[in-house]
Amino acid sequence: MLTTALHFSHTLLKEIVQVGDTVVDATMGNGHDTALLAELVGRTGQVYAFDVQEQAVQATKHRLHELHLLGQTTLLQQGHETLGQVIPDTTDIRAAVFNLGYLPKSDKHIITKPDTTKKALEALLPRLRPKGRIILVVYYGHEGGADELSLVNDYCQQLPQEAYNVLTYQFINQRNQPPILFCIEKKP
Ligand SMILES: C[S@@+](CC[C@H](N)C(=O)[O-])C[C@H]1O[C@@H](n2cnc3c(N)ncnc32)[C@H](O)[C@@H]1O
Repeated sequence: MLTTALHFSHTLLKEIVQVGDTVVDATMGNGHDTALLAELVGRTGQVYAFDVQEQAVQATKHRLHELHLLGQTTLLQQGHETLGQVIPDTTDIRAAVFNLGYLPKSDKHIITKPDTTKKALEALLPRLRPKGRIILVVYYGHEGGADELSLVNDYCQQLPQEAYNVLTYQFINQRNQPPILFCIEKKP
């Protein structure tokens, strides 16, 4: 069976993330991706996770504590647009994941936005290791979502093919605007 964009994002991460790696969860939310990444990098790795909402940081902290995965994570209650100030530019990042949209069952007005998403991508690209991946799962059914989808699509399309492979994955016959996945892979 073809898998959902969310499930496929996990497959794309599992294919490349190794023990000891440094990785980024750009939109922590309830910490599902943070937990997956923390498991993959192990105790010798490092996950930087960002979210602007205290509720998200607390939920993620709780999840990681239960799973004994807190040690290899840095949880930051700040926007991913600050990534360039937090992660040294000498750090090699194996993978980063974004789930763009709003936190389910929470305030639908706190959404990711095109300008800050772009800023985070610009800080990530030079830090990405060869063969490293940035994965964006874009939910766009809410107000403001179409603008962000447009930014991500345009940003990905203009990346030079000499340096990056870029993939999109989407179901084109489904109702209710299922998320669209983008994967940017740096060429060796
Ligand atoms: C779709 S949810 C993420 C879901 C998450 N991956 C999970 O496992 O639950 C999007 C999240 O992005 C957060 N967010 C909004 N603006 C942000 C920003 N500038 N930087 C980081 N996170 C942001 C929201 O607070 C929300 O929790």
